[in-house]
Amino acid sequence: MLEKYRIKFPKKKANDLEQNEEFCFLVDSDAQERKILFHEYGEIYKIQGLYEQLFYERLKCNSPAKVAEALKYSVSQVHEHFSELRVLDLGAGNGMMGEKLRKHGVSRLVGVDIIPEAKEAADRDRPMVYDAYYIEDFCNLPMQQKEDIQEWSFNCLTTVAALGFGDIPARAFIEAFNILQSKGWIAFNIKETFLDKSDESGFSVAIRELILSEYLDIYYLERYQHRLSMEGQPLYYFAIAGRKNADIPQDFLKSIDL
Ligand SMILES: C[S@@+](CC[C@H](N)C(=O)[O-])C[C@H]1O[C@@H](n2cnc3c(N)ncnc32)[C@H](O)[C@@H]1O
Repeated sequence: MLEKYRIKFPKKKANDLEQNEEFCFLVDSDAQERKILFHEYGEIYKIQGLYEQLFYERLKCNSPAKVAEALKYSVSQVHEHFSELRVLDLGAGNGMMGEKLRKHGVSRLVGVDIIPEAKEAADRDRPMVYDAYYIEDFCNLPMQQKEDIQEWSFNCLTTVAALGFGDIPARAFIEAFNILQSKGWIAFNIKETFLDKSDESGFSVAIRELILSEYLDIYYLERYQHRLSMEGQPLYYFAIAGRKNADIPQDFLKSIDL
């Protein structure tokens, strides 16, 4: 049984904090408080079980289950088999999505994250989940690593709770999208505001353009509660699944003026 940590949320109202500025305090046995930002993934992964306790138990995150369900529904629409998916899980973290995919039964599963602490935590906590796990920045993927990764012949890309907010940029997502075989499956989630036209940030514009583009056919779109904020308010996301139609051209981001 993993240790249960004492996690305290700040008392002060924090409505003006952006989602990527949220934080909590980890209280040790001497009542010393350590501030941890939710986006300090490396620090969180180093403490075994903290990520699960914070996001999944306290804040009721539901996204790996929801996105896996979106993917399963989509694949079944065309009578294909989930068990034939060779999945690239981008922003894999300590393997929460990987664990769900394994339970549903996929053929191959490879994780990618930008920080080594994610792979270390996945190896430590879910050693049987991934067939391989790469630490790479898909914005600057060296040719040799790209060729190695392509050898897996992926026909599915998943990205859960990792797009936007300074995490995976559109450019890295597009690189992963283009590594997929043609007609490969894609399943991911994004915060609902990213689909709102009033959000003119580069990431939002790029992801909206991609969703509506000829490069992707959408099979599934659902608004759902991703998790609670640190103040207990529901945070709504869209779960999206679809099928790749064609590679996204290199000048796609330029063409939408980003
Ligand atoms: C909130 S965690 C989600 C982890 C896992 N997918 C889950 O659902 O629990 C976001 C992950 O995205 C990773 N990440 C952030 N920027 C990234 C990038 N540019 N490329 C790959 N992974 C990235 C972080 O290191 C972190 O592990």
